[in-house]
Amino acid sequence: MAATGPERFSSAEPEPRSLSLGGHVGFDSLPDQLVSKSVTQGFSFNILCVGETGIGKSTLMNTLFNTTFETEEASHHEECVRLRPQTYDLQESNVQLKLTIVDAVGFGDQINKDESYRPIVDYIDAQFENYLQEELKIRRSLFDYHDTRIHVCLYFITPTGHSLKSLDLVTMKKLDSKVNIIPIIAKADTISKSELHKFKIKIMGELVSNGVQIYQFPTDDEAVAEINAVMNAHLPFAVVGSTEEVKVGNKLVRARQYPWGVVQVENENHCDFVKLREMLIRVNMEDLREQTHSRHYELYRRCKLEEMGFQDSDGDSQPFSLQETYEAKRKEFLSELQRKEEEMRQMFVNKVKETELELKEKERELHEKFEHLKRLHQEEKRKVEEKRRELEEETNAFNRRKAAVEALQSQALHATSQQPLRKDKDKKKASGWSSIYSVTIP
Ligand code: GTP
Ligand code: MG
Repeated sequence: MAATGPERFSSAEPEPRSLSLGGHVGFDSLPDQLVSKSVTQGFSFNILCVGETGIGKSTLMNTLFNTTFETEEASHHEECVRLRPQTYDLQESNVQLKLTIVDAVGFGDQINKDESYRPIVDYIDAQFENYLQEELKIRRSLFDYHDTRIHVCLYFITPTGHSLKSLDLVTMKKLDSKVNIIPIIAKADTISKSELHKFKIKIMGELVSNGVQIYQFPTDDEAVAEINAVMNAHLPFAVVGSTEEVKVGNKLVRARQYPWGVVQVENENHCDFVKLREMLIRVNMEDLREQTHSRHYELYRRCKLEEMGFQDSDGDSQPFSLQETYEAKRKEFLSELQRKEEEMRQMFVNKVKETELELKEKERELHEKFEHLKRLHQEEKRKVEEKRRELEEETNAFNRRKAAVEALQSQALHATSQQPLRKDKDKKKASGWSSIYSVTIP
């Protein structure tokens, strides 16, 4: 019966055996095939220039590639740092290079520089993210993908001769795990030789004490180990840029001409421009590309995938399974969704209960108010009733008195009509009636 599952394969791989070939087979042409394929495909190289406005970034790029890239001057009034990428197709012999130069426009021009590094970090991350998204696609086209990941950051240091600014240290610290940083002292012709020597030592000391990791030229490849080791000791390179050609002896050289003399860009006694070009372009360009992929991008990719819940293996060193991780994530997502649903339902029930209680309370208050008003009304009614009774009694008493007076008046009139001749007596009686009248009527 055929074995199923992992038991089918033995975990211990057989040791490869060395055999000698009887004649020429031809796989020794693999490196040539690789070169030929790479040349056909072309290369891309992306440089990020970080340094304050007017420090000489564009001039140095023009000097390095011996051409004129069309760049415009940055204004000193940018509200925040802005990244401006420009891509050029260059060709030297039969090698095609897609060169992207990214300028950090407005760097160092803001009053508050706390967040100056952020747009730069975000830009670098965005390029990593684009590459990761391409890698994660079902239909990938990495072969002709325009790789925009930053391979090197040239950090332009102002030639103050004093020390690094805190902006330099903070920015380089934020960038050092994301990109290969090569620090360079710009406009090195403005600083004297002895000052420059001290300045370089000071800068390196500050970078080390602040834990800033700059790019070290690799010394593991024998062919370039020696020169790279020597060059590492020259960092940071002090450079001068110029596209102006000046006649020195009978040769035209790129230089900066001053009333007191000429600074030759490619003269190693004058500045480190040649060292920079050698290290950046002629010796370590491929290493910079590779370090970007294997170190910086790898770190970004790992963090991103871990954030998404993917992990290599657990404690038992089980191999990573995309299917299992996906299932686990799906379950996690569904239970989270259920929990959220239950939470919302509970919230709704509570809200209804709360509203019900509030309404009941309002109803009770209204009822109490009604009862109170009712009591007040009854009291008022009772008082009015009492008043009415009193008035009625008064009216009755008045009527009775009125009737009595009328009766007396009519009696008096009757008596007067019976004895008309006895005038003196009548007068007496009349005054007597009037006294009765005045006594009876209040
Ligand atoms: P923005 O892109 O506007 O930020 O400027 P930038 O950093 O690209 O500087 P740019 O190359 O435009 O140079 C600004 C000025 O500095 C120009 O007048 C250059 O001639 C001068 N400059 C460039 N490189 C050097 C240098 O090595 N030494 C000296 N002394 N001046 C330089
Ligand atoms: Mg510029």
